Amino acid sequence: ATRYTVPAPPGLPVVGHLHQIARSGLVGHLLNVSRDMPEGIFKLRFGSRVSLFVTDPDLVAELSDETRFRKMPGPGLRVVRKFAGDGLFTAFSEEPNWGKAHRILLPAFSNRAMRGYFDMIVEVCDQLVAKWERAAGTDVHVADDMTRLTLDSIAIAGFGHRFNSFEREELDSFLLALGRALSEALSTITRLPIQQRFARKAVAQYEADIAEMNALVDGIIAERRAAPGEGRDLLNLMLTAVDPETGEGLDDLNIRYQVLTFLIAGHETTSGMLTFAFAYLLRNPAVLAQAYAEVDRVLPGDTRPDYAQVAKLEVIERILKEALRLWPTAPSFSVAPFEDQVIGGRYVMRRDRPINVFTPGVHRFPSVWSDPDEFDIDRWLPHAEAERHPHAYKPFGNGERACIGRQFAMVEAKIAMAMLLRRFAISDPHSYKLRIKETLSIKPDDFSMRIRLRQPHE
Ligand code: HEM
Repeated sequence: ATRYTVPAPPGLPVVGHLHQIARSGLVGHLLNVSRDMPEGIFKLRFGSRVSLFVTDPDLVAELSDETRFRKMPGPGLRVVRKFAGDGLFTAFSEEPNWGKAHRILLPAFSNRAMRGYFDMIVEVCDQLVAKWERAAGTDVHVADDMTRLTLDSIAIAGFGHRFNSFEREELDSFLLALGRALSEALSTITRLPIQQRFARKAVAQYEADIAEMNALVDGIIAERRAAPGEGRDLLNLMLTAVDPETGEGLDDLNIRYQVLTFLIAGHETTSGMLTFAFAYLLRNPAVLAQAYAEVDRVLPGDTRPDYAQVAKLEVIERILKEALRLWPTAPSFSVAPFEDQVIGGRYVMRRDRPINVFTPGVHRFPSVWSDPDEFDIDRWLPHAEAERHPHAYKPFGNGERACIGRQFAMVEAKIAMAMLLRRFAISDPHSYKLRIKETLSIKPDDFSMRIRLRQPHE
């Protein structure tokens, strides 16, 4: 059979496509390139490295076949292993600690466990509502407040640790250290070797930031060891549960990696999703009106939300799903074949070589999505969803390595958005123009919106 080489857009020699990335950011650049690559697969050169990207849902379907492919952390995640080690997110699937931790921690994400976290999440949402009540009539920085919300929720629900982020003007220094560490991790993969040699100061800061994050994590673990408690939250499972398959528990170093992994993975992407969703609501007044109507119906007055109401927030759920379609906040994941494979009947994929599933491109692939750049929550009406290509939407990754926290993220985001919209009218006096800020995840850059208290029957 004929074999084809994977197509590449034109690029410059030596530097490859790096110069174009500086202008539009990596994700923006990849989205631009993917629009010009109808094959749904392309390669780009970053310095000496060639990376593969896939956006055609038919090819994604093949890459999702777990008998042929499995997750293979690419250069980005491999750098993050410096501080997240063989934690769940950054582990290679073959590493024994992945399976062990996966089996030990799965019960922490059951429906029953989610019920247990719900009141803690609502308590954090209450703190955000109280903060916005004090700020009514002014502009709020959406990404910062969503970050406080999601970081505080995962820390309290997972580890019994209180960041109390809403008591302070500044973001927690853990977040600043994390932000710097993630952007440094990202820089090292696009930096040329010659540039890396001149980056000594950045490397020293990176080491200091990792030390600060580890100190926080070690403190959280020590606190719990001193006062164990009965609950079955993430931390207690890590410290006491054994893997049903091997009979072994997690070792201390791995526990540190897992706690840090959950603090990072458990907040960044969820806060980005909420921030994008608010930005789109402001541009879509008819959808905002539907959302107000829904929250007034499901959560009337000052009633305390209960878990059963989350399932009834159907409009809010569609808003969040559509925000994640246009801007999946973890914008790619990578897989590699166990053995050489041909995909699409024509492209040879080499054993163990990472292939990036670039989800912003998959989620806008024109043969599947009509008017792909339009925000349209009706795409998520049940009949429309049932008819769609089954591999055209992968914001949470695929298969056994898919996101373990997706229910947590959706429950948290739905209840937060509902509690905010039942109390506040939002507006956009500055006509915000969406720009993307990239670390390893993406979120709207520098987005503020005006809030005021809603009047009764408004
Ligand atoms: C894995 C996205 C929220 C914890 C993943 C993956 C994606 C993803 C795409 C797969 C990565 C890969 O294949 O390389 C998201 C998005 C979220 C979100 C878009 C919010 C909107 C959360 C939350 C938690 C969490 C709230 C924790 C409570 C994890 C962990 C993994 C993971 C531990 C690794 C799972 C494994 O490989 O065993 N997430 N995530 N995520 N996520 Fe999430």
